[in-house]
Amino acid sequence: MTPDYSLLNRQLAALLDTRSWLTNSAQTSAFIMQEISALNWAGFYLQGEPELLILGPFQGKPACHPIPFNQGVCGAAARDRETQRVDDVQAIADHIACDADSRSELVVPILVGDYLWGVLDLDSPQAGRFSEADQAGIEALVATFIECTDLT
Ligand code: SME
Repeated sequence: MTPDYSLLNRQLAALLDTRSWLTNSAQTSAFIMQEISALNWAGFYLQGEPELLILGPFQGKPACHPIPFNQGVCGAAARDRETQRVDDVQAIADHIACDADSRSELVVPILVGDYLWGVLDLDSPQAGRFSEADQAGIEALVATFIECTDLT
C-alpha cells in the first residue's frame, strides 16, 4: 500500500527544524527508514569532489564509497539529473551491489539551482518495491529536504 506521502511530507517539514545539511540529512534518512516499509537502506551521497559521490548520513548496512558519476544507479541519477527507478537491480549491468539482499532501488537527484548537491538512495529487498506513486512521493520529500536545508 502506498503510504500517505502528503502526511509524511508535513511530518518531515516539522522534523527538519535546523538549516544544517548534516543534521537534516541524518534526520531524513532515519525518518524514511522508519516510515516507509520494506527498505534495507536509505541514505545520502554527496558530490564531495567534482563528479564523485561520497557517502553521507544513512540507515542500513555499511555501503559502497565513493561512487563516480559514471558508475552505478546513483552515478546515473547524478549524471542525468533524473530519478532512477529500478524494479530489478539484478537486470542492470551497471548496478553496484553493496548488499546482495537489495532487489529494487530508487535514486533521486538533489539539485540546488544548477548544482548537483547529491542524491537520495533507497534500496529494497523486494523486486518492484517502488511504484510511480512512491517515486512522486519520495521526490516530494526530497523537495522538502531542499527547502528546509542550507545546501550552499
Ligand atoms: N546500488 C547503488 C550503490 C549504492 S548502495 O545501494 C547503498 C548503485 O548502483 O549506485
